[in-house]
Amino acid sequence: MISVALEQKELEQQALVQILFEQQFQHSAELVCHAPGRVNIIGDHTDYNDGFVLPAAINYGTTIAASVRDDKIIKVYAHDCDQQTNEFSLTEIVFDQQMMWSNYVRGTLQALLKKHPEINGANLVVTGNVPQGAGLSSSASFEIAILKTFTQLYQLELNGINAALIGQQAENDFVGCNCGIMDQLISAMGQQGHAMLLDCKDLSFEDAPIPDDLTLFIVNSNVKRGLVDSAYNLRRQQCEAVAKYFGVSALRDVTMAQLNAAEKEIEPELFKRARHVVSENTRAVNTLKALKANDMATISAEMKASHISLRDDFEVTTKEMDGLVEMIDSVLGTKGGVRMTGGGFGGCVVALVPNNLVTEVTDIVNRKYEQEFGLTASIYHCTASQGAFR
Ligand code: GLA
Repeated sequence: MISVALEQKELEQQALVQILFEQQFQHSAELVCHAPGRVNIIGDHTDYNDGFVLPAAINYGTTIAASVRDDKIIKVYAHDCDQQTNEFSLTEIVFDQQMMWSNYVRGTLQALLKKHPEINGANLVVTGNVPQGAGLSSSASFEIAILKTFTQLYQLELNGINAALIGQQAENDFVGCNCGIMDQLISAMGQQGHAMLLDCKDLSFEDAPIPDDLTLFIVNSNVKRGLVDSAYNLRRQQCEAVAKYFGVSALRDVTMAQLNAAEKEIEPELFKRARHVVSENTRAVNTLKALKANDMATISAEMKASHISLRDDFEVTTKEMDGLVEMIDSVLGTKGGVRMTGGGFGGCVVALVPNNLVTEVTDIVNRKYEQEFGLTASIYHCTASQGAFR
């Protein structure tokens, strides 16, 4: 179990990157930047449908130490990767088939250059503690950390919303994942102690405090995710096909009544995909209201319905995630909420757990998960932290 205060973990990362930077480049870093990962409390697979999401930035993230260069070269040392050093020129950015992690740097800078062609190169050292491939947005936190770093190094006029759009562009156009805007936006604009209801249609948002008596409890099923990008991109295409049928640009603009009335005209699988999206939007908005009113019974019901919808209609959960949700739900009942979080196909479940039930929930996961699934779960007690551009 990992449960360390935000400040302490961030300070440790900051100290580490500075030491590593001196070792790599034989001079001190000019600055250190940090961007958080995120957990999504509710509203999954809605962002690329122009819908609603309710994420929070978390106290796990990516930290970068950097200095400017007077040429166009990027030299980057990634402390947590097997092949750690990568070098390329801003004048010729191509996809790196060998060092996949470097494509987040390459893609982000390629997208940034479209707005800011004036930037020069940099020496960079990167370290992160967001578990990779777990649905907690290690890649978005990497992209936003890069953008914050260049914003500071070259005094760019870049706000958090534009940074998020650039990060998303890197994923869509360079890395090859057709993700929505949620992960980058919350990493840039999250507010400490708060969750954010984001309207992905116009990028307006509202912060809502997470009550002090609740723990953001995250459990990684540690199921290795396979073929994630292609399955994710397929879900997106399916949603777009239904939106097209209704003659709208995104499913956000389809109501449940319209969808139900057209059921016989739509392929059953596509109908289920759309039913998830339309119902999930309502659940995200209801959960924000319930959070503000401290109405845990409603939060609990909405999170439960969300998981079932992602399991049965959107079909992105795994048996391990379903099992974890069931175990945790058996302790929480209506006193807390639990569901899968993120893109799915493995990764994490998120629970809002009253502080006085944290031990009991931890115990049941430790006792039952390995026994039933032969895997060890990792548990993170998170706090909602501040976005890099807020
Ligand atoms: C991934 C994507 C996000 C979002 C979620 C599902 O995290 O990066 O844009 O679509 O999946 O909600």
